[in-house]
Amino acid sequence: MRAGVLVGAIAALLQLFPTGDMQGKLVAYNQQPTLAAMEGLFESQEGAPLAILGQPDVEKRKLDNPLEVPEMLSFLTYRKWRAHVKGLSDFPQAEWPDQIPLLYYSYHVMVGLGTIFIAVMVVACLLLWRGKLYDSRWMLWMLMVCVPLPYIANTAGWMTAELGRQPWLIYGLMRTANGISPRVAAGNAWFTLIGFMGMYTVLAILWLFLIYREIELGPDPGNRPTGEDAVVLAVD
Ligand code: HEM
Repeated sequence: MRAGVLVGAIAALLQLFPTGDMQGKLVAYNQQPTLAAMEGLFESQEGAPLAILGQPDVEKRKLDNPLEVPEMLSFLTYRKWRAHVKGLSDFPQAEWPDQIPLLYYSYHVMVGLGTIFIAVMVVACLLLWRGKLYDSRWMLWMLMVCVPLPYIANTAGWMTAELGRQPWLIYGLMRTANGISPRVAAGNAWFTLIGFMGMYTVLAILWLFLIYREIELGPDPGNRPTGEDAVVLAVD
């Protein structure tokens, strides 16, 4: 538990900085339409805001009900509050990612969950440090509820990368539409897909079985006083 909380906190912080931050810069320098779509930025701006919430309306080229932090996108991307960030309208529509809303939501789910992980793990670390973690039922519940969330964040991250590079197979050089393999039949692709799905289903069942067994065994008492020691301590 102790190791899990410490490693979780370090990993959650590293996810934001430097890794997430660096990924964001790479996208900003190499895939400008992708960055604009991830952020729901339709018009170019100096001092571009960071969209926390909102729904992209691609037809009207705007973000509905936006909740934004002013100038933050410019700062996070170029380390200058008034930096110019290109919006989607600056690029031909043929270069826009095809699934802008899905890309925008995937990205926001990933970053939103990443932020939640940081908050939960930092509070858990503080409770651990003050010796209160094992008795905080609400935090133990929260940690348990968080178990499936990194899988969702991972999938959302992968979707962000894959949807974000569309319509290119090799960015700026080869379009996805030109990347089909005429010699590979649809049946072959189905066969491989079903094979992988089967393998991952078996792994998922195994994972659930192992986790269930671990929970059945109960927590390791570790160095906490038990039995007679606990009575002696209580009397002291
Ligand atoms: C906390 C803030 C986070 C930020 C700022 C961030 C940022 C990014 C960025 C900019 C990308 C690149 C997308 C692209 O290449 O088009 C990315 C990809 C990805 N992220 Fe995050 N991320 C964060 C949290 C997370 C978390 C918590 C997870 C999972 C637990 C995660 C998993 C991924 C994955 C799997 C990818 C795809 C990598 C690839 O296939 O190239 N991210 N992230």
